[in-house]
Amino acid sequence: MSTNIQEVKQLLEKAKAEGLAILNSATDEASLEQARTKALGRKSPLSRARSSLGSFDPDQRKELGQIANEVSRALEEELTRKGQAFRAAEREARWERERIDVTLPGNRPEVASVHPLARTTWKIVDIFLGLGYRVADGPEIELTKYNFDALNTPTEHPSRAPQDTYYIKDRPDLVLRTHTSPVQIRTLETEKPPVYVVCPGRCYRRDEQDPTHLNAFYQIEGLAVDVGITMGDMKGTLEVFAREMFGDDLDVRLRPSFFPFTEPSAEMDVQCFVCRGAGCRVCKGEGWIELMGCGMVDPFLLEWVGIDPERYTGFAFGMGVERGASLVHGVNDIRQFYENDLRFLRQFLGAG
Ligand code: DAH
Repeated sequence: MSTNIQEVKQLLEKAKAEGLAILNSATDEASLEQARTKALGRKSPLSRARSSLGSFDPDQRKELGQIANEVSRALEEELTRKGQAFRAAEREARWERERIDVTLPGNRPEVASVHPLARTTWKIVDIFLGLGYRVADGPEIELTKYNFDALNTPTEHPSRAPQDTYYIKDRPDLVLRTHTSPVQIRTLETEKPPVYVVCPGRCYRRDEQDPTHLNAFYQIEGLAVDVGITMGDMKGTLEVFAREMFGDDLDVRLRPSFFPFTEPSAEMDVQCFVCRGAGCRVCKGEGWIELMGCGMVDPFLLEWVGIDPERYTGFAFGMGVERGASLVHGVNDIRQFYENDLRFLRQFLGAG
């Protein structure tokens, strides 16, 4: 073999210089991988220089081998250094790209809230729960027997007419209940007095919809039947309710009225909570606001459910939730409660 040791040493020197140059020309991790193959792979100048080592005697081979190993180590070190530098630079760039400005305002999550009608219902029910009442329930599709007959509504009463009441198709005995009063009968049918219940629920009437009328709306019914209940109990109870609902300083009054299921019947008014009796737009100059119908349970009802009217007496009342809520919040068109316009509904956030 004619290659002499000096030539191989030069080849190795050259392999080192070339290898370093190749590695240094890499500009990112991907090109560094290609450079690694060129500088250290099987076809690299270093591998070629090494392949000639076999023709030397052992001592020379050892010396050249050591030099080759040093060249290899130098290239490996450079490779590692460049690799680390590229990874560090990439990390820096990513941090820069993903930099977060923690001072930017966040996206506020929408917080759901209770609908003003539900809130009003809960408030009313809650007051009566505090007075020892329970919540009773009845169906929205109701038998005419409960919606009218048992409530002493005459057969010819206009409220029974299909112009006023939704009948279920081909079922003259079934209606969408027109008030929550049938729950009075259903409760008394299954429970013996003392009975103290409130019954919130949806009612339906075939009404032309306008700012004060809906054909589906909510009522809350109340019923107390016990030994020795008087009109004084009714007045006292409803006064306590009105004070809790509207404030301590407002008077209430009873006006004679008529309902088929109460005798005597009355309407309860509360002093206008806007003008406190002076007269304003909300109470239409009256100073009073009509709150609910009420009265002493007609003995007809008690007999109908088999309760002895000589022994038991009771009072009942019924009020409209939309009406109450619109008065309290000064809403002049109750249809707004059902439009689900968040700008409208948001106004009631946190309101009582
Ligand atoms: N049911 C009546 C209505 O729909 C309201 C009512 C009046 C209920 C007097 C009662 C009552 O319990 O005693 O208008």
